[in-house]
Amino acid sequence: MANVTLRNVRKTYTGGFEAIKGVNVDVADGQFCVLVGPSGCGKSTLLRMVAGLETVTGGEIDIGGRVVNQIEPADRDIAMVFQNYALYPHMSVYNNMAYGLRNRGMAETEVKSRVEEAARVLELTSMLERKPRQLSGGQRQRVAMGRAIVRQPKVFLFDEPLSNLDAKLRIAMRVEIRKLQRRLNTTSIYVTHDQLEAMTLADVLVVMNGGQVEQVGNPLAIYEKPATTFVASFIGAPPMNLMSTRADEIKSQLNGAATEAGILGIRPEDFVITDQTPAGGVALPLTVEAIERVGAETFIYGSREQEEQRVAATPGELPPGEVIVRIPGTEAPAIGARIRVAAIRPKLHLFSGDGRTRLEA
Ligand SMILES: Nc1ncnc2c1ncn2[C@@H]1O[C@H](COP(=O)(O)OP(=O)(O)OP(=O)(O)O)[C@@H](O)[C@H]1O
Ligand SMILES: [Mg+2]
Repeated sequence: MANVTLRNVRKTYTGGFEAIKGVNVDVADGQFCVLVGPSGCGKSTLLRMVAGLETVTGGEIDIGGRVVNQIEPADRDIAMVFQNYALYPHMSVYNNMAYGLRNRGMAETEVKSRVEEAARVLELTSMLERKPRQLSGGQRQRVAMGRAIVRQPKVFLFDEPLSNLDAKLRIAMRVEIRKLQRRLNTTSIYVTHDQLEAMTLADVLVVMNGGQVEQVGNPLAIYEKPATTFVASFIGAPPMNLMSTRADEIKSQLNGAATEAGILGIRPEDFVITDQTPAGGVALPLTVEAIERVGAETFIYGSREQEEQRVAATPGELPPGEVIVRIPGTEAPAIGARIRVAAIRPKLHLFSGDGRTRLEA
């Protein structure tokens, strides 16, 4: 077991593109760390540097108290599970899991005991003689996990391991991966662009954007207090509503809390439909443009009044005038209806005008 520490890690690819611009992350022994962010933000680059598959341009990568920048991948005591896990099609499940160990010259009795133990925890014992083509997608994914587990590494590295699976299987495997990691207690770094996967798996969530870390912390703490508008709109679905506090009606209702032009954020689930204006909170008149009923809840897409549409272009901001409201159940107003929604003061998020700073009001 080992902790993983990244100190001011940088990566410039040949050609001069700076993919990682100084990243600091601390993953304690046994923790599950998730790197999340949009496509191209540098998640795979960072993970591949930890694995030793990419050179490090600057900074230090420390695994278990040892700087590994110059250490070969095979000597880092890590095991990686990729999206394209490519099992050997002509080999049985058993041999797929045993292959890497035999390559390292491990004694066959030890290979057998490790493969059988991994098969047991992954519930693959009855399938050890099958070929990959005789398995379901989820079972194949478990074999890929098995190949990593038998190595008994200090650190697991996962790069979008579930993205080839259908939605239902993804959820099932997500739960299995978390249970497995808790049982093995192996430090893990997991890359995904799926914020829900990130929220549910992480002990430590690292939100990345453009080669930099936007915010690090406990997933629920990040959800409750996003540090920037980027994080506010990336974590949570549908995304947080963001609007300029210059809209006159909103500003007066904030009772002077926002002294300068800023951005007001309200999560869709924090609105209620009401004619009241809560003290210190905000109320918005909306025209209902669209309704989505998904069973347990309903999404209302409303447009704000003309007066409130003077919205500055800021990172992560919703299209001008659109507000998403999330209400439980299936009862919803009619399309075209004019409604008022409100949010109480503790549910308001305030950011600086550039979206880079959270303002505590
Ligand atoms: N070998 C390379 N040479 C030059 N640029 C590269 C190379 N590999 C990746 N990049 C660039 O570095 C940036 C980060 O890429 P990376 O693969 O780390 O993104 P990612 O966050 O994993 O994205 P995705 O979610 O799409 O997998 C991208 O802009 C990419 O084009
Ligand atoms: Mg990637």
